Amino acid sequence: MELEIEEIRKEFPILHTKNMGKELIYLDSAATSQKPNYVIDAITNYYREYNANIHRGLYDISVKATEEYTKSKEKVASFIGAKSYREIIYCKNATEAINLVALTWAENNIFEGDKILLSRMEHHSNIVPWQLLAKRKKAIIDYINVENGELDLHDYDEKLNDETPPKLVSFTHVSNVLGTINNVKEMTKKAKEKGAVVLIDGAQSVPHMNVNVKSIGCDFFAFSSHKMLGPSGIGVLYGNEELLEKTEPIIGGGDMIRSVDFDSCTWNELPWKFEAGTANIEGGIGLGKAVEYLEKIGMDNIRRHEVELTKYALDELSKIEGVVVYGPKSDYSLSNKAGVISFNIVGAHSHDVATIFNSEGVAIRAGHHCAMPLVNKVLNEPAVARMSFYLYNKKEEVDKAINAIEKVKKVLKIKKHDKK
Ligand code: ALA
Repeated sequence: MELEIEEIRKEFPILHTKNMGKELIYLDSAATSQKPNYVIDAITNYYREYNANIHRGLYDISVKATEEYTKSKEKVASFIGAKSYREIIYCKNATEAINLVALTWAENNIFEGDKILLSRMEHHSNIVPWQLLAKRKKAIIDYINVENGELDLHDYDEKLNDETPPKLVSFTHVSNVLGTINNVKEMTKKAKEKGAVVLIDGAQSVPHMNVNVKSIGCDFFAFSSHKMLGPSGIGVLYGNEELLEKTEPIIGGGDMIRSVDFDSCTWNELPWKFEAGTANIEGGIGLGKAVEYLEKIGMDNIRRHEVELTKYALDELSKIEGVVVYGPKSDYSLSNKAGVISFNIVGAHSHDVATIFNSEGVAIRAGHHCAMPLVNKVLNEPAVARMSFYLYNKKEEVDKAINAIEKVKKVLKIKKHDKK
């Protein structure tokens, strides 16, 4: 079904504000998404109508808050194909979700000399926690190579078949820089055959396409609410129930315990044993509403719309001299490419590009995108500009971005023949 873009846009108040006195063209949804009234209203309703702590009060508004919070977990569980909400742990964001695996499961299962296999297209959030762990444990980190914007699966096979196979394999589902969609199902299967535990960073996939963690077969899967129309300050760690049962919590306090004595305590049931202290209640409720909203529109419809926009933008960019686009070579259906396009204009720094785009009302991100190893060492660039799309973007907005490129060339006096 084709999306009713103008109807959808009415739901997002920020899209009707101005940027630099011009219509806001928001092309930075990979950094954070905008929020529909459906989500904004759910959060303010919580504060206006039933603000109370959860799991603690016997009075009506507390019972309602508990119900709504738990319902949000049930929705998230069904949205990603988890067995039940027992497998859904709420964290601050995807970064904290990955750190939680490093500090709990990995802390007790990775030892000196053990290998952790990551990829060279990871966000810092899926590199730094493992560097910290490797330092503590004297473990070894290796990386799957990137070739032409894609993971080199021959290199992956070789690294899995190493004399000492990795104990943990972790990679991104969708690159936040290249937009590459990795074949996580096949990669997970191969890693599991070698006995590794698999963690996937789904921050850039869950908001934009159908994801089913059981069909992928991974052990852990992390993502953030703020990139999928929900509020910030809340993210999700999916963990396989069996593994979570065997995993000790790291943060202690209220709500995560069943009983406490002066010299010992026992843990609460899943998922609460990983959630100490008062939860981000409004965040959970807002995320649940975001999931409802996405389901109403339909993830396949969203993906189809983004493919169309991305194809259009790539076509337009290919017509402009002096523009370099980074990412995988794709087939017509963009089966391995999400709505994320990183590019540079030869002769311009991406920060200047983003500043001049801003003067035209167009919001894009520029820099290393929290993926310095990928941008600096694989792409060999100090920085790149990036536009990223979501369900509320339209072709006219891509046109505005394309026109802004001409303005960049004009302002920076880039000559026609500057080619890379
Ligand atoms: N990870 C987010 C991005 O790629 C912040 O922009």
